[in-house]
Amino acid sequence: MTLFRTYSYARTWRTPRTPRPNTIFVRPRSRALSTTVTQQPPTFTTKLKNFVIGTVSIVLGVSFIEYYFDSRAAIHKYFITPVLRTATDAETSHKFAIWAAKWGFSAKDRLSDDEKLAVRVWGKKLSNPVGLAAGFDKHGEAIDGLFDLGFGYVEIGSVTPEPQPGNPQPRMFRLHDDKAVINRYGFNSVGHKAVELRLRDRLRRYLYHSAKLHPKITTSLLASSPDGASLSDALGINRSLKDEKLLGINLGKNKSSDLESVDDYVKGVKSLGPYADVLVVNVSSPNTPGLRGLQRKDIFEKLLNEVIIARNSLSGRHPALLVKIAPDLSNDELDDIADAAMKSGVDGIIVSNTTISRPNSLYSDSSLVSEIGGLSGPPVKPLALRALRKIYKRTNGELTLVGCGGISDAKDALEYARAGATLVQLYTSLAYDGVGKAREIKDGILSELKDKKWTDVIGEQWKN
Ligand SMILES: Cc1cc2nc3c(=O)[nH]c(=O)nc-3n(C[C@H](O)[C@H](O)[C@H](O)COP(=O)(O)O)c2cc1C
Repeated sequence: MTLFRTYSYARTWRTPRTPRPNTIFVRPRSRALSTTVTQQPPTFTTKLKNFVIGTVSIVLGVSFIEYYFDSRAAIHKYFITPVLRTATDAETSHKFAIWAAKWGFSAKDRLSDDEKLAVRVWGKKLSNPVGLAAGFDKHGEAIDGLFDLGFGYVEIGSVTPEPQPGNPQPRMFRLHDDKAVINRYGFNSVGHKAVELRLRDRLRRYLYHSAKLHPKITTSLLASSPDGASLSDALGINRSLKDEKLLGINLGKNKSSDLESVDDYVKGVKSLGPYADVLVVNVSSPNTPGLRGLQRKDIFEKLLNEVIIARNSLSGRHPALLVKIAPDLSNDELDDIADAAMKSGVDGIIVSNTTISRPNSLYSDSSLVSEIGGLSGPPVKPLALRALRKIYKRTNGELTLVGCGGISDAKDALEYARAGATLVQLYTSLAYDGVGKAREIKDGILSELKDKKWTDVIGEQWKN
């Protein structure tokens, strides 16, 4: 029956029906024709009106674009970031942020850094001491977009030697009431080779584009420099490819590797070292079974010795080598770490990674708090600060320390500096407050410093 109906409709459409008696068929006029006939020439007032509407629309559009791309714009903190947080799960928001920074849809810090924020570390000058911590750009996809947010230091990774998928989703949870996060990503990584190729591409693109600025760069020179890294060294360019900013690469370990093996880190130093201003040996992520065991005195010493030998055997400029530790270590363990670090000659320690503990001060629902993984954000700050102070005292302030954990504003950053941190890093507060975080903290530091400089306050707590 349905088939029959379809067929009969088709017939009706194909064969025009004979007009019923008394029906008059009037051929509809085309719209264009009727418009031409009836339209009056636009009056001066209409033209003026159209001109005003057009101009206002263009001015508003351009102003909105200008406003949107300024990282200080309130729309980021009070609209875009909260909307993203409400509409999507934590991992999707994270992916979106990376996508936006990668393709130039993210805002930028339009101001240059005040000289009072400048700091010298590892033989380099940084225009400001605020860094982005590892885990945000795990695969090195959005390096330039992230520097554009105003960070003086961007750390990509953790990168593992072989690609691995990490833990099943969901694996990142927001604890809104504590402005904190629990994650158990488990080192999802595209592996050394993929990141190395990405960094090599970035460097070669930069060299081609800046050939005009550097008369020493010629096409034949570029062709003869297989990775471009040695060429960038010869030109004295930071591996971040930015003046007064440093690029860190954080090295992880595959889940399938032997628990006590340090080979994964040695491989990382060799393959990614030529692209880094700073290499970070991460022995503190809680989501790879056995990893934190590498902080045990005997293995830790062996690990540091081997990575330093690998770093020192790199041709070209040697990146600084840091180790990143957990905030949950006991006082004795922290002393051992500090002693081993001093003995080995590493260039510094990042204090700290996420915590496996769950402080009693947490307000969030117990179902969230009991998710397995590392806790980050404000609840980590007291633990990380305690560890940093302990290490600073043990090393007599002779080792460069990077403070990380729960830094949300300038006061937090300065608290770390006074306790002995030369640089600071953050992750979770960027996820909660959006792209203006680096600028907000830098402005806040400047107003807190009054007539002092950042370098005046490093370790200030111990000077009285
Ligand atoms: C979702 C997420 C993923 C992370 N992944 C890594 C990582 O791959 N490697 C690493 O060394 N630290 C990682 N971290 C830890 C951060 O780098 C930082 O040490 C920690 O979050 C404390 O800083 P915060 O309180 O400012 O977030 C991760 C943190 C979060 C929240």
